[in-house]
Amino acid sequence: MLCTVLICGFFGDTGKGKVSSYLSLKDRTAVAVRAGVGPNAGHTVVYNGKKYKMRMLPSAFVSDKCRLLVGPGVLINPEILLQEIRLTNSERRIGIDPQCAIIESKHISADKSGHLAEKIKTTGTGTGPCNAERALRMVKLTRDTPELERFLTDVPLEINEAIGEGKKVLIEGTQGTYLSLYHGTYPYCTSKDVTASAACSDVGVGPTKVNEVIIVFKSYTTRVGAGPLPNELSWEEAEKRNWAEIAAVTGRRRRAAPFNYELARRAIMLNGATQAAVTKIDVLFPECKAVKSYEELSQKAKSFVEKVEKEIKLPVTLIGTGPDAWEIVDRREKFGKV
Ligand code: IMP
Ligand code: MG
Repeated sequence: MLCTVLICGFFGDTGKGKVSSYLSLKDRTAVAVRAGVGPNAGHTVVYNGKKYKMRMLPSAFVSDKCRLLVGPGVLINPEILLQEIRLTNSERRIGIDPQCAIIESKHISADKSGHLAEKIKTTGTGTGPCNAERALRMVKLTRDTPELERFLTDVPLEINEAIGEGKKVLIEGTQGTYLSLYHGTYPYCTSKDVTASAACSDVGVGPTKVNEVIIVFKSYTTRVGAGPLPNELSWEEAEKRNWAEIAAVTGRRRRAAPFNYELARRAIMLNGATQAAVTKIDVLFPECKAVKSYEELSQKAKSFVEKVEKEIKLPVTLIGTGPDAWEIVDRREKFGKV
């Protein structure tokens, strides 16, 4: 798998961060590049007993030789970016494209009041107003920001050269298919498209260069903010099932519902997915916690995976069995995906 795109098939928060951290370690990814909207995303990575909530850098930072890039389509909050660079001690491997747009305090204020805050219930991180200003061609870019100058690099060129040299490249999407401005539950969605095609465009990789699109689903569905969630459970019922989650960026409660096969099938179509990851199977079947081979999964868990595969007509190549990067069942070889 030379060039892989990782995206979410539901409403975000399906565990892309965890899957990316695993893939980067296992495959020794040479270059990982962050696509997607901006710091409205929160990717949780657990590695070596530490928990990280990544909002700007690729979750592949755990693989210490991996080059870490941010594509021009992504909105940058310099403060959060610099903090993550320090936290991960990754200064020497960072590359930011000069044409990323900068989120300023006026964007954050605009995102925290009126229509966006009250009706859409956005994350309040300024991404919508910043993208709006970008569309008006008035936004400030990373190339105008001296504090980021030392990190600036031609990200599309770096990635395409890496692909040309046969290196492993991972494109990390953010949010989820049904938060896409085009394909999601408009107006309850984010401020741009977030499907696999958009992720490629964000980083400057053409569609002919992509080998695999891994779509990530959680064993159940969650959504934060406003908008439809079919078969939504009460918070009490979600608590009973251990599905009651708190959002990484905003600290809000995540609304929960069972795995949705119909949404999954459409997401696979919209993203041209070639394989699926199903995370948090240990939440449905606690006996599967930290299991690393398919054979060791309980019969109930195997039946669930088989049902998913039958319904979505795609191999489930990765099965998350816990938050740590290494708590995963990897069946890629079996399906000829390595
Ligand atoms: P915005 O992206 O901050 O404008 O928020 C628009 C909608 O997308 C809101 O419902 C947010 O809760 C949701 N959203 C944005 N980013 C994420 C994410 O990374 N995970 C889950 N929901 C998100
Ligand atoms: Mg998240």
